[in-house]
Order: sequence, then structure tokens, then C-alpha cells
Amino acid sequence: MARQIKLFDTTLRDGEQSPGCSMNLQDKLEVAESLASLGVDIIEAGFAIASPGDFKSVQAIAKSIRGVTIASLSRALEKDIDASWEALREAESPRIHTFLATSPLHMEYKLKKTPDQVYEQAVAMVKYARNLCGDVEFSLEDASRSEPEFMYRVIEGVIAAGASTVNIPDTVGYAVPEEYAALIRNIRNNVPNVDKAVLSVHCHNDLGLGVANSLAAALAGADQIECTINGLGERAGNAALEEIVMNLYTRKEYYNMTTRVDSTRIWQTSRKVSKATGVRCQPNKAIVGDNAFAHESGIHQHGVLANRATYEIMTPESIGLPHNKMVLGKHSGRHAFEERLAYLGHRVSEERLNELFEAFKELADKKKTVSDRDIEAMVSGSSSGIPESFQLDRFVINSGSSMTATSVVRLKLRDGTKVEKVAIGDGPVDASFNAVDKIIGGSEIKLEDYNLQIVDATDTGADAQGESHVRITRDGRTWNGSGVSTDIVESSLRAYLFAINAMLYDLEQEKTRSAQ
Ligand code: KIV
Ligand code: ZN
Repeated sequence: MARQIKLFDTTLRDGEQSPGCSMNLQDKLEVAESLASLGVDIIEAGFAIASPGDFKSVQAIAKSIRGVTIASLSRALEKDIDASWEALREAESPRIHTFLATSPLHMEYKLKKTPDQVYEQAVAMVKYARNLCGDVEFSLEDASRSEPEFMYRVIEGVIAAGASTVNIPDTVGYAVPEEYAALIRNIRNNVPNVDKAVLSVHCHNDLGLGVANSLAAALAGADQIECTINGLGERAGNAALEEIVMNLYTRKEYYNMTTRVDSTRIWQTSRKVSKATGVRCQPNKAIVGDNAFAHESGIHQHGVLANRATYEIMTPESIGLPHNKMVLGKHSGRHAFEERLAYLGHRVSEERLNELFEAFKELADKKKTVSDRDIEAMVSGSSSGIPESFQLDRFVINSGSSMTATSVVRLKLRDGTKVEKVAIGDGPVDASFNAVDKIIGGSEIKLEDYNLQIVDATDTGADAQGESHVRITRDGRTWNGSGVSTDIVESSLRAYLFAINAMLYDLEQEKTRSAQ
């Protein structure tokens, strides 16, 4: 029988450590919900002591996400472990994850401690954590560059102290598959109490070997793989969850291992993470890149038409990639639309269904065919429950090669009043954003990033949709927004307003909480 490998997803912790990938509370909750539906075993929700925002998001996820273990990272220090426990205590299944470096380099230069001191601290902190929580994971940071004999001693000590999972990270992405597999085998053969704990691996991708190292380690006896959606993570990222799952699935006879993950939810989860972080995958990214299932050359197209297996080792359906065109146009009913949403994995409230159906009708008026990808973009480009302090009412632009771009934007406020302003800028999008800034008084808001994509590359010409993503910052904090429309200035304005509304919502919530 196939061996079951546990998947520990760290998109919300290591993934969020990627430059420019920070997420707000609402985004993190949505990503956590998607990860739970995807079927991961453990969600590392954050690093509770790192900031008040991190603490709140671990706490919110611990309170609301069920059916999965929720972990919080902590250095091997009492105050970190206390913060993690405080944030996690309402979780259905909480896990304190604590770590300490064991490599000579880290111990001497970073920790300035002897190996004996590191050993004592690791054991003491695992005991401390175990007094609070029944599920404790200990990570030997920089394990792949640590002395094996010292590692065996630490692993034995932390297991005896109560660690139920021991993680052997390749923190700097230095390992080679055969060598890393040997390390796991040696740990299995040299640590007397190793079978009392789950052995985990956590591989970074600095040399592009994150997934290969994780799979080699699993073959050598690791029971848990730590990974992230879209391979996000520090520097070059972590091993990508979707690549691990699809390797095990596509080559099941070779690996003889499975996970609890429902592979048909991969594409949607990947999109959700891209939307939350504002970072899209490179087009040729394995499994979830836009080109992962695209056949460009004539020879390949011919082969695939004759028999898909000629050039396709897995089907787009197996990762949940939407491909069907909606047969329903502007005369289609609400029920059919709701069914399509459900097919795409979106179970929405009555109120949100009404909003989305309105948007669908508007789109169906503009486009002949509405594809599943259009619907996905529509769902991710709408504000998903965040109250809209500012709503786009209308805009007019005047732009050309021999004139300064001008934009007149009118926004509807929450009380129903409408405010209109005119502004100039370097092109119609810049002018429109400047007009919005004038209305909202947004001088402290900085536009950090902006990008625009065509939603469905298979759509021809005029009625394809533009999907815009923006990232804004204020006082060092970040918010993302997406917007879709057949008009690119409109999609850009929608994305900008999405991010602004998310920011205002967060600030309002924080003010209310601190007044209580
Ligand atoms: O890469 C690493 O070593 C880590 C640990 C904290 C698990 O992220
Ligand atoms: Zn890491």
C-alpha cells in the first residue's frame, strides 16, 4: 500500500517572507481556507512573535480554520513560544514549531554558543513548549550543513523531551538529492528513538533542487514534507507543493506514496495565492504556469490531437485547470451561473452570488463567450466581503501621443454621495490613479507595483479581458488589489480601489479593536 506523506504548508510563513509577498489578514484567511480545502495536513499560519499583525493572523486562522493542524513558528525562546501558544490556543489542533541552528557556522557566528549550549537550549525549549501544547515540532536550522554526530544527539534529545516532529531543513538550499537522502537514512539508522517522532524535511530552492531534495528525502524515509504554494519562500523560495503532489501522483508506481491533497484544487489555490500576494508565477512554471499545458509547436499540437499522451504526462483537469467555455451567454440564468461557480470550487454566500451574477451579466453583455478563466478572474478581482469605502462610478480619459493624459474619475462613497476629480498623469492609468488620490486624499499611499495581463490567451482580439494587479504601501505596510475588465483603465482603477478599500478596512478594524 502507498505510504502517506504529510504535507506541511508554510506559504503563510516562509512564503510570506519572500520579498514583496506580504498579505493582509483577509487574504491570509482566504489562503488558509483554500489550503484546508486543498487537503494539506498542517498550515504554518505565521511567526506569532514577529509582529502584532502576524500574531493576529495566526490567532484568526487558529480560531476559524478546522480539520487541519495550525502551527506557529517560534525561536527556541520562552517569549516566542508563549506568543505562539497564546495565538494558537483556540485551534482545533495546535502545533508549536520551534527552531534552533545546529551548524558550526550558525552556532559560532549567529548564536555565539557552543554545541553543548545549543543542545541544552533545544531540549529545554522543547520541554517548555510541550508543557503548553501536545504537538511540538523542532527544526534543526541549517541541518544540511551540520555535523551528523551532533545532529543525532540533538534529535535524540528533543524527541526524548517531547518533540513529536523533527525537521531537518536544507535552510540555504545547499543539499544534493543523493546526499540529502543519505542524511535522512543515516538519521533513521543512528538515532535510537527516531521512530517516536515524524521526520520532516524543508528544502529551499537556491540551486533549483528544492523539490528534488524533498522527494529524495521522502524516498529515504522522511514522513513529512514542508512546502509552499507556487514555491514562494525566502530568496529563491521553498519546494513547491504543487510540484511535489503532481510528482507523487504522476509517478505513483515509482514513488508508491500519496498525500491527502485533492490535486484538482491546485490551480485555484495557486491563483488565490497569486492574488493575495500580487505575485504571479512565471509562465513556464511547472504545473501552474500559464504555459504548463500549452502546446505551441505544430508537431506537438498534431501529436496531442492524435493522442494527448504523446506530449502530456498529466491532464489539465487533474490540477483543476479550467478549460471549458461557458455555453451560457447573456441570457443565461442565475442557477446555471451558480452551478458553474460551484464546479470551479467557489461556494459563496447569497449576497456575494448576487454581486458576482451582476458582474457576470455585465461581462456577458461585453463578451461573446465567458470562459471559466474569466469567471476565476472575476471572483478574484471582486472585493470578497471587504466593504467598499470607495466604488468606481464612472471615468473618462483623454490620452494620446501628443497630449498630456487627463482622467476624470467619479467615485461613489459608502453613504451614496459621489465625488468627481480630474487629474493629469504619465498616461491614462497614472492620470486615473492621481484622480483617485485626489478624491481619497491619498498622499501617504505609494504605488509599489502594477501589472496587467490578458486573462484568457485563447480569446481572440477585442473582447479579451485585462486583469490588473497593484500593490500599495502606507507606513511600511502592504496591500494588494486585483481588478478585471474588458477595458484596461477600468481594470486598473478597480485593482487600485480594491487595494485602497482593503487598506481602509484593516485600519478601521485596528482602530475599533484598540478603542475596545
Ligand atoms: O529554512 C529554515 O530552516 C526554516 C526553519 C525555521 C524551519 O524556515
Ligand atoms: Zn525555510
